[in-house]
Amino acid sequence: MSLTNFNSEQEIRVGYIEEVIKKYLPNAEGHQEIIFKAMNYSILAGGKRLRPMLMLETYKLFDGKDITCIEPFMAAIEMIHTYSLVHDDLPAMDNDEFRRGRKTTHVVFGEAFGILAGDALLNYAFETALTATTKMGDKELKNAVKALEILSKKAGVYGMIGGQVIDIIGVKAIDSTDIKQVSGNIDKINVDINDDIDKLALDRLNSIYKLKTSALIEASMMIGAIMAGASETEILVIEQMASNIGLAFQIQDDILDVTSTTEVLGKTVLSDERNEKVTYVTIMGIEHAKNQVNNLSQKGLGGFEQLNRKNDFLNELIIKLITREK
Ligand code: IPE
Ligand code: IPE
Ligand code: MG
Ligand code: MG
Ligand code: MG
Repeated sequence: MSLTNFNSEQEIRVGYIEEVIKKYLPNAEGHQEIIFKAMNYSILAGGKRLRPMLMLETYKLFDGKDITCIEPFMAAIEMIHTYSLVHDDLPAMDNDEFRRGRKTTHVVFGEAFGILAGDALLNYAFETALTATTKMGDKELKNAVKALEILSKKAGVYGMIGGQVIDIIGVKAIDSTDIKQVSGNIDKINVDINDDIDKLALDRLNSIYKLKTSALIEASMMIGAIMAGASETEILVIEQMASNIGLAFQIQDDILDVTSTTEVLGKTVLSDERNEKVTYVTIMGIEHAKNQVNNLSQKGLGGFEQLNRKNDFLNELIIKLITREK
């Protein structure tokens, strides 16, 4: 796929996803009007819409045909992701002032409504996903229940929230055995770099990233596969692919935090340094971190061969993420 082709294809998809999100947002009514404003402020501010895009493309990878049964899940995953960002930016967490090219939700609406807007988006995600089940036959309904189970688990204490918890505790302050308990079976990445690297810290960091970032990417791709009727074995391959893609995505996020600008990124740069976070960049430096982004993405791409399936756009999207600038 040529670059111009890819870019215009991506624009078309982002436009479509924006429409899907708008379609499933709540109607503003009642005395709680402020909450609708705060929800819309954060979710309609743009963003790459990567998770719904991965979900839709994985659905297509498995020849999913009925777009109406995947749409509520696409809106739901973006609501959960947006809530995670609104809360991640709160003063008690990363305390950041810019997100998606705007002042953060708590800066504009105050901390209480920042917290409540996040809560509202999380709950509304499940209200939305459940609407997918209303007109379904038995087979689709079974898939939808499985998808809901993945959505709730990957967003929760065994997924994204769990990762945010360990991120807040910090890498240095915690014994690695504690992390292993929550993150389960960690697939160790092969670090062929010099021995000065703090391997224990890296191990801990990988477990944080697999939860705080990979979990929602896994949910996105797994739900696409589940709703298209993929087999258990195929769903496992997708989970592993997404785990590697998510890890690469978070490492690139660490890199951009130090190499980009707030204007380009749309969010506050040097946030990790200010919060004294241990990141891939602090552990191994930018060049080695870039290599890891590439290695993990290639590992993720290997999933297509295992599945013996292809989706050119999805393939290209994963490659483009390696050198993304925002
Ligand atoms: C930011 O996610 C949080 C991370 C997991 C790194 P994105 O980079 O996907 O943010 P948006 O959705 O484009 O704003
Ligand atoms: C947060 O990671 C990932 C989430 C679950 C929100 P970061 O704290 O690095 O995300 P950014 O850089 O603020 O987007
Ligand atoms: Mg954070
Ligand atoms: Mg942050
Ligand atoms: Mg970051």
